[in-house]
Amino acid sequence: MSEADAAFEALLEFLKRTRGLDFTGYKRTSLERRFRRRMESVGCPGYSDYLDYLEVHPDEYEQLFETLLINVTEFFRDPPAWQDMQERVLPELIAAKAEDEPIRIWSAGCASGQEAYTMAMVLAELLGVDDYRERVKIYATDIDEDALAQARLAVYAPKELESLPDGLRERYFERSDKNWAFRKDLRRAVIFGRNNLIQDAPISRLDVLICRNTLMYFNAETQARILRHFHFALHEHGVLMLGKSEMMISHRDLFAPLDLKKRIFTKQPRDSLAARALGFTNGDIAELPTPDDDRGTRDAALELGPHPLLIVSRTGRLSFANLPARALFQLALDDFGRAFDELPIAHRPSELRPAIEQALRERRRVPVGEVAFTPDRGDERRLGIAVSPLLSSANTVLGVSVVFEDVTRYFALQSELEGNRRDLELAYEELQSTIDELETTNEELQSANEELQTTNEELQSTNEELETMNEELQSTNEELETINDELRDRTGELNQVNEFLEAILTSLGFGVAVLDTHQRVQIWNHRAEDLWGLRRDEALDHHFLSLDIGLPAEQLAAALRSVLTGTHPRESRELQAVNRRGRPIVVSATVLPLVSRSMGDGAKVQGAIVLMEDQPAEDAAE
Ligand SMILES: C[S@@+](CC[C@H](N)C(=O)[O-])C[C@H]1O[C@@H](n2cnc3c(N)ncnc32)[C@H](O)[C@@H]1O
Repeated sequence: MSEADAAFEALLEFLKRTRGLDFTGYKRTSLERRFRRRMESVGCPGYSDYLDYLEVHPDEYEQLFETLLINVTEFFRDPPAWQDMQERVLPELIAAKAEDEPIRIWSAGCASGQEAYTMAMVLAELLGVDDYRERVKIYATDIDEDALAQARLAVYAPKELESLPDGLRERYFERSDKNWAFRKDLRRAVIFGRNNLIQDAPISRLDVLICRNTLMYFNAETQARILRHFHFALHEHGVLMLGKSEMMISHRDLFAPLDLKKRIFTKQPRDSLAARALGFTNGDIAELPTPDDDRGTRDAALELGPHPLLIVSRTGRLSFANLPARALFQLALDDFGRAFDELPIAHRPSELRPAIEQALRERRRVPVGEVAFTPDRGDERRLGIAVSPLLSSANTVLGVSVVFEDVTRYFALQSELEGNRRDLELAYEELQSTIDELETTNEELQSANEELQTTNEELQSTNEELETMNEELQSTNEELETINDELRDRTGELNQVNEFLEAILTSLGFGVAVLDTHQRVQIWNHRAEDLWGLRRDEALDHHFLSLDIGLPAEQLAAALRSVLTGTHPRESRELQAVNRRGRPIVVSATVLPLVSRSMGDGAKVQGAIVLMEDQPAEDAAE
């Protein structure tokens, strides 16, 4: 066993020990593939790393079991099979029952319940709702508790009901918010429970057993064991419904196809199993003849044959020879009553003495064998000779009969048949080996088919996950779009407010710079642009003291610090500056704190406002 195989075995053993779930009977390739999928998601390179991971992250079990126990299912899965059940199989089954006899169903591996409720709807359609409630019991089992909890809830999304035939949703489901719930009064006949097909006892006395798309996850040995359980679980003539890719090639002794294509089978009755084991066919039972006491008839029958026959008395004398014997062995009248040993017939064509003694001693028929005999007149023949004791009703020995059966014709035929038999045997062996090969190929095909189906189901389940993720992403996207729209509205509003403020500030005639607590420019109005020749985009987010303008801003550093630290509520300075045209000007600069709207004790300084007003020309000249 390779190191990886040993690690995988250890992982399976660990799950069995810690969680009571035994996966050793599952098909290895697909099982390993599903384990690897989880390992990749959590970044574990090897099986033993994953075992360690499970020990530290018990949350992972749920994800793992969800991946291993693929719960893909739907209502009326494979519609032609359900149609055949509804139109032919179940009506025949119901017709063979008394009117009030119960009908017992088992959906094994029922996942989230759609299969069991499908059967419930089909039976309610066939029997009528009242009879359904009276007579039907549907047992639905699975190994997966989460799936069972969903099944018991019986609530399904509208999308899941799309596979229902027309009208059934309205007849069998009730609204439950945005979803649909299977009718409560019909749900009572469906009993959900946990059952592990590999190790638990089956439910018994069933009319129909549905086990679809579940057997295919198990290896051949486990499938065989489960099918034997199923055979036991079903009534005589009970019906087994498998999944589309489950063909039951190897268990024709247990189940015979009712419709192979739809995977519907019937239980092979036990009597036919026993009869087949004994090698009987129906034609083997023969009528016994009625006894005939007419002695004359018996004597005539003895006399005329069909085979030469002698009777030797208890005292060793020839007491009777019928017509064919007398003719074949040329017996004369005076031979009768003579000691048998003295007659040529006792020694030719075969030595009869030992067989006669044995038949008398052991009181049973003793075959002498086949011998060649050429009569005085005629061609050589082959005679099959047997000696039988003749017993009275009191069981005393009366003598023996010796029968010479002419097997000449059979001998020739036998030789011919022998040749034919050998040819047939050879042909049979060839046929058998072709059948074996076909069966192996068939089994391989089935296994490959099942493998494909399991891969398909895995893909379907991944697809469902992706669809859910997609739906989630879509709803997140919609939320983001709403937030975006709101932000856009707010920005629009803000822009309007800004424009309004800008208009006020411009009307006042001040150049205005609004700074944050780090003295970075947040607002730079048109008048400031005009005064210093610095565009708003060149000023925004730059440190006020580092702006390349004609204002000796460093002379405002102390005033800014004093206002930002809350030391003074207002600072004013007159500064000599140079405007954008290079002309010297005097600027009156006022620094105010930027505070939250509710000025008061707790008001916090959030920045500073610098108002810059150039003095009229004559002031500047002075
Ligand atoms: C693909 S679903 C089939 C559902 C349904 N029968 C159908 O065909 O639509 C296979 C189901 O088999 C169940 N399962 C797997 N191993 C099992 C076991 N050992 N015993 C019982 N159920 C098992 C899984 O939990 C899953 O719900």
